[in-house]
Amino acid sequence: MRMRVSASAPGKVILFGEHFVVHGNPAIVSSIDLRARVYASRRPDPEVVLEGGAEENPAIEAAKHVLKLAGARLGLSLRIESQIPQSVGLGSSAAVSVASAAATMLLLGRRLDLEKVIEAAHVGERLVHYTPSGIDTSIAALGGAGIYDRRMGYRRVEIGLRRLLIVNTGRQRKTGDLVRIVREFREENPEEFSRLSDEAKLIVEEALDALKSEDLERLGELMNRNQRLLRRIGVSSPEIEEAISLCLSAGAYGAKLTGAGGGGCVIAVADYDRLDRIAEDVSGRFQVFKARLVVDGVRAEPPPEKPP
Ligand code: MEV
Repeated sequence: MRMRVSASAPGKVILFGEHFVVHGNPAIVSSIDLRARVYASRRPDPEVVLEGGAEENPAIEAAKHVLKLAGARLGLSLRIESQIPQSVGLGSSAAVSVASAAATMLLLGRRLDLEKVIEAAHVGERLVHYTPSGIDTSIAALGGAGIYDRRMGYRRVEIGLRRLLIVNTGRQRKTGDLVRIVREFREENPEEFSRLSDEAKLIVEEALDALKSEDLERLGELMNRNQRLLRRIGVSSPEIEEAISLCLSAGAYGAKLTGAGGGGCVIAVADYDRLDRIAEDVSGRFQVFKARLVVDGVRAEPPPEKPP
């Protein structure tokens, strides 16, 4: 058995369809070029601990699940290094869970079994998220970009969109709380929710088309349409609306919240040669960065040259 290994997994942006995906709709998701890396090493006692972290963490739960599946009784020390900001809709906890499950498998000397990685990461995600649709763990494990629904899982799709802007409003929130707000909206307004769901599905279908042909203007319009639905079901916030307005006035074709909302991040599409200008305008108020889409899913990382 190896003594210290590490694996990494990417963050994500949901391009279209968040929240409605929890209720059975399809959503479009892409991996982004920010990664979380988890180091795993043996411990002499049978505990699974996170160095410098809390006792309850998705990484710990995911690692324990892998050990359980393998019938292995051993202790692990985990360490997380992440470029993904936490609790702002970019899939940080899923990436950490996936990387942790993968690192544990590698430490056991197994090959990476992506189905089991996803299963273990899902157990980790439930700690922060309660009823996750599974979209975040699937994209962190499988990478690329594609369409996800609860019945069929993740199917990879070739998309033309390569870059977009991510604006971080800096307001952190719990995905589970926002998912509950939407569930309550649905219970109180079943007919309206069903109409909004149909509209969200249509947007996803049209967006798949626009993504294939890299029609940025049309993608922007579809994002604006999707944002109106998200606003209506109660998951926007004043910071999100302000970030969107700033992007649109600076020349973006469209912008919307991404992930759970209630704060978190906004994504915006524009001609690639305009992204820097828009970022400059928005950066006076919010943290903003260009993200590259469609990157590798979970992967083993070579050992660092010097021990970290
Ligand atoms: C969170 O990234 C996306 C939500 O749709 C929740 C989920 O799908 O589990 C809000």
